[in-house]
Amino acid sequence: MSAPLTVAVDGPAGTGKSSVSRGLARALGARYLNTGAMYRIVTLAVLRAGLDPDDAAAVAELASGVDLAVGFDPDEDLYFLGGEDVSVEIRGDAVTKAVSAVSAVPEVRTRLVDRQRELADGTVAVVVEGRDIGTVVLPDADLKVFLTASPEERARRRNDQNVESGLPGDYDAVLADVLRRDHLDSTRAVSPLRAADDAIVVDSSDWTQSQTVAHLLDLVEQRAGASR
Ligand code: DC
Repeated sequence: MSAPLTVAVDGPAGTGKSSVSRGLARALGARYLNTGAMYRIVTLAVLRAGLDPDDAAAVAELASGVDLAVGFDPDEDLYFLGGEDVSVEIRGDAVTKAVSAVSAVPEVRTRLVDRQRELADGTVAVVVEGRDIGTVVLPDADLKVFLTASPEERARRRNDQNVESGLPGDYDAVLADVLRRDHLDSTRAVSPLRAADDAIVVDSSDWTQSQTVAHLLDLVEQRAGASR
């Protein structure tokens, strides 16, 4: 392949998309861009400003001035708001609850999509992870993967993670939350979650993370072979 490789990885929450995308970037020696984290940084700014995440006009105005920066290293989580490292805080409950509303605001999406295109401008190999990468952000990506797993399997994995981190397990509540987020993400007016027409749908329900990464590496190889 002549130009540096661009891979888009989209899919719903709880498929292990981040770990798989990081693993793929590592194996390819590529950069890794987590676009969900960018929506989370804007959401944190909204909460810190004391705004209602459902007040779309106020969120849109604030988003136009948010100073955010993201790292590219698949082995390091580095996300900044106004120069402050917020990598841990953007994973907290408050941000997770509010991020769907903030990411549904069209002005937020326009601003972040512009940034994402600048960051993945095709000059270096990159794996970009999100919900609308293959459909909107990088429609010309060399490889588009839509990573899925059954809602039950995603809920089981998330519930196991909760239990491992010391939280009480509640599979039914986690499954209800997975279904609620799927519904919100796939029915929003702007950039709803869906596979691009030319995406390869990969169902990871029965695979470990490393099996999934190995499968994606095969897909990259096939693409490279096809374009040689
Ligand atoms: O992948 P994540 O859970 O960190 O994403 C956080 C939220 O951001 C999630 O509700 C979906 C949204 N998102 C989006 O709308 N578009 C993207 N490209 C990435 C994430």
